[in-house]
Amino acid sequence: MKNFTTKQRLNQHLLDARASGATIGFVPTMGALHQGHLSLIARARQDCDIVVCSIFVNPTQFNDPKDLEKYPRPIEADIVKLEQAGCDVLFNPDVTEMYAGNEQWHLDIGELEHLLEGQSRPGHYQGVTQVVYKLFSIVEPDSAYFGQKDFQQVLVINRMVDLMKMPVKIVMCPIEREGNGLAMSSRNVHLSATDREHALVLSQALKQVKDNFNREDIATLKQQAENSINNEPDVQLDYLEIADAKTLHPANQNTANVVALVAARVGTTRLIDNMIIR
Ligand code: PAJ
Repeated sequence: MKNFTTKQRLNQHLLDARASGATIGFVPTMGALHQGHLSLIARARQDCDIVVCSIFVNPTQFNDPKDLEKYPRPIEADIVKLEQAGCDVLFNPDVTEMYAGNEQWHLDIGELEHLLEGQSRPGHYQGVTQVVYKLFSIVEPDSAYFGQKDFQQVLVINRMVDLMKMPVKIVMCPIEREGNGLAMSSRNVHLSATDREHALVLSQALKQVKDNFNREDIATLKQQAENSINNEPDVQLDYLEIADAKTLHPANQNTANVVALVAARVGTTRLIDNMIIR
């Protein structure tokens, strides 16, 4: 695997590849790689001639400085995982390579800015779009792979690509879970053994919504799921929403595509999860 830390060197390498007619699949990440990230690499590997992964812990998308500071950065182990997964190119820039001193960025992502994650993490999606826009401009991928784990992020990226008319296909890949249902996340390393047990209530509550969707009305389902979570010690619910998968507005009986989304603090770690209901 080639490993580049500068845009210029990466660009040169990809120019040559593109000139030979190769298609480029791109997987942007913040590292601390797990099976969720590797499933995106595997899908890109299937679809494209050249697979590029970026590892960059993007400071502009962290609304909590402590979260940024303690974000795991096991770069050596990540490189081994990428090599085993058949990744061709790693882009691992530092902050000064990606940002000039005081850049301004604002993209009109509409209501997604203020709903759910947007509301809980002010400015988060501005930081995400800022860095993904830069990464897309550097890599110029044919296809880019994102996890359903960050469902709202996929909606935001799709909107950015439409607004900016970027010629990249966005592919959403399913959530990878541990055997007990816990959605894999780089932040799971911060969970203690008891946190892990308590965190199971999140995927269980989503499953409960899915299993009972045709039997109960939406208000009841939401209440039951919230109750399950609130009954679990050390889990603090931020939001649980049964939403229209296109707009993230609350769903009703007639909504064609429904997703249930949850965010909660388990111990000191904030986790998110979601499940497509129909
Ligand atoms: P990060 O949290 O590292 O995630 C990188 C990609 O892996 C995202 O598309 C995310 O949805 C996906 N992913 C994470 N956990 C997953 C799981 N359990 N199953 C499947 N896919 C999973 O998301 C980001 O980084 C950043 O916001 C980024 C897009 C890189 C911009 O900085």
